[in-house]
Amino acid sequence: MQFTIAIDGPAAAGKGTISKAVAAHYGFAHLDTGLLYRAVGAKTLAGIDVLEAAITLTAEDLTASDLRTPEVAQAASKVAVLADVRAALVDFQIAFARRSGGAVLDGRDIGTVICPRAEAKLFVTASAEVRAARRYLELSQNGHDVTREAVLEDVKARDARDMNRAEAPLKPAEDAVLIDTSDLGIEAAIAAAVAAIDARKG
Ligand code: C5P
Repeated sequence: MQFTIAIDGPAAAGKGTISKAVAAHYGFAHLDTGLLYRAVGAKTLAGIDVLEAAITLTAEDLTASDLRTPEVAQAASKVAVLADVRAALVDFQIAFARRSGGAVLDGRDIGTVICPRAEAKLFVTASAEVRAARRYLELSQNGHDVTREAVLEDVKARDARDMNRAEAPLKPAEDAVLIDTSDLGIEAAIAAAVAAIDARKG
């Protein structure tokens, strides 16, 4: 059985939480595609050539412990504008999406570029302020020394770079179901996602 669930949206909208819950609900495999770009970004911060980093990326690179920092997030969105970097990461994502047993992929361009024929597509969003507040909480709880203002600036800078780039810009697929989590709790957001996917499963 092949069934692909594409979940796109901006940083800290709740994609990750929803994707994990949806994957567990249906018993599907889950790929956080942001990790691919974060791993490439982290390698460039370590001085490795960007294309070399993308071409030689291994599964092990995705488990590095320092991929969730604000510095790596910014580096990820900078390498993500490069067409050659994106091209180097396409085959792995498509193969993952079509694995038997079902797959959930979350990112920025899954429903538009990687899996335009995904059986179910969601676009998860929230206001920049709500997303920054969530990211601030997450980072400060994990011991990062950040301010609310800096996190909001980071979120807005990344949004602008992700939405305005020429290659695979962040935008909802025409047939995506929109879920705005600004005023939704986690359980309600997951329930909305499952209801939208069930409607596509028939
Ligand atoms: O989702 P996450 O915040 O981990 O993604 C980090 C960055 O990687 C994003 O800001 C975006 O620039 C890039 N990205 C992308 N396409 C994806 C997933 C992530 O361009 N499918």
